[in-house]
This record gives sequence, structure tokens and C-alpha cells, in this order.
Amino acid sequence: MSDECELIVLRYDTPSLERLRSNSFGYVSANGRPLVDLLDPQPGERVLDLGCGTGVMTAEIALRGAEVLGIDGSPAMIEKALAQHPGIDFIVGDGHDFTVVQAYDAVFSNAALHWMSRDPGTVIANVREALAPGGRFVAEMGGAGNCAELTAAMLTAWREYGLREPDLPWYFPTPAEYAQRLEREGFVVRLLEYFDRTTPLDECPGGAADWVRMYAASVLDGLPPDIVDPLLRRVNELAAPALRRESGWMADYVRLRFAAVRR
Ligand code: BEZ
Repeated sequence: MSDECELIVLRYDTPSLERLRSNSFGYVSANGRPLVDLLDPQPGERVLDLGCGTGVMTAEIALRGAEVLGIDGSPAMIEKALAQHPGIDFIVGDGHDFTVVQAYDAVFSNAALHWMSRDPGTVIANVREALAPGGRFVAEMGGAGNCAELTAAMLTAWREYGLREPDLPWYFPTPAEYAQRLEREGFVVRLLEYFDRTTPLDECPGGAADWVRMYAASVLDGLPPDIVDPLLRRVNELAAPALRRESGWMADYVRLRFAAVRR
């Protein structure tokens, strides 16, 4: 690991990630490998992994011979990444607010851009600035309709309990919307896919309730403590017909996957 890091971090403020992403993200790595194939990192290429979490995909990219830097808004994630992948560079940084000293050949991102919801245009603009002309932006994120059954169950339960509609912390764009943003920020879109990926919630044996606690903990902040268990039990009841199978709970994930090139 080099002593000097090339990324200048101006600010990081991704509290949802901080809280939520220290759990098992096995699904991310299992489903992330084809995305690394799409990136097709070449030996010696400089790659930035944006929203790297604990660095599983970063390590996969490094294995293919690229020089990779992982950045993530969560100091806890970066601490784990550094411990788990000695020899790879990781640093705390937020997609909304970073610059690099030397341009990268590619920016990669898996299951992270939907968490950078405050200003997606700024995130894309920062990625563009981090890339050399002709550099690739290859990513997968939640697309429109992602977690629709899960969030519908939440909204209904919140309403039934007389609570204000929760502020959901994600950005799930339509393919058209995201392609437009990419083009507006100076990218040529080479590939854009939009597909369902119903995913076993292996890390959530308590179903939708566990999922809310794990991935949407911010919506529970400030609720009277005694309401949380019954509220989440109700989320489970509402979500079960769509998402509970004999084999266990499923998440109704919808993916947006793209490869774009900096003009
Ligand atoms: C996702 O990967 O699509 C996702 C995971 C947790 C919460 C929201 C979305």
C-alpha cells in the first residue's frame, strides 16, 4: 500500500452507508463478478472503485492486474477493507465530493450509486472529472421499481400507524433518466441494461423487518421505541404475500447496469 494517496477527499457524509453496510454483503460479491467482466480491467490500468464497501470487488479488480483505489463514505467500511485486503489502497470519500490528482482509466461502482442520492448529477460530474478522456464508467445500481414491494409494505405500515411518510434514502432512476444524466455530464452510453434480480434475503432471516433494520435504519430514527417492533411485524405481514417463499424471504431487486465512456 502506498503512503501517499492520490484522492483528495473534500467531505464525506454518507451516514446511511455508515450504519448499514457493515453486515454480510455476500449477494453483492456473488452478483458483482459479471460487472467486473464488463469492466474488463487490464493489467496496469488505473481503476477507482466508488462505494467499495469492504472492498470485495476492489480485490477482484486488483486480482486482474489493475491498480485500484477503493473509496467509500463509511470509515467503518474502509477500516474493514484495509484489514481484509492488505496491499490494496482504500480511502474514505463520498461520491458527491471528491477529486483526484491523476486521472483514472475507469471508474467502477457496484450496488452503491443508489445510496448517493443527494445529488446524482454531481456524483456523475465528479466521476467524469476523475476520468481521462475515453475513460470508462461501469456500474450497477438499483433502478426504478427496485424494492417496490418492500417499500410499499413500509409505506402502508407507516400510514396505518399514523406516522409521517418515511424519507427513503435511495435513488432508483429509470434507464431513460440515468442515460440522460450521463449524456448531460459528458458521457457516451455504450450499454444500458434494466432487469429484475429477485434476490434471496439470506442475511435477513426475520424477513422484510430485518431488511428495514439493516438497510433503512434511518427511517426508524426518532420513532417511539415501543412502536418499532409491531410496526416492523406489520411490514412483514404486508410484504409476505409477495416476498416470502417456502425457501425464505426474497428481495424484489431491479438493477440498472451501464457502461459509459467519457467524451
Ligand atoms: C440494492 O442493492 O438494491 C439495495 C440494497 C439495500 C437497500 C436498498 C437497495
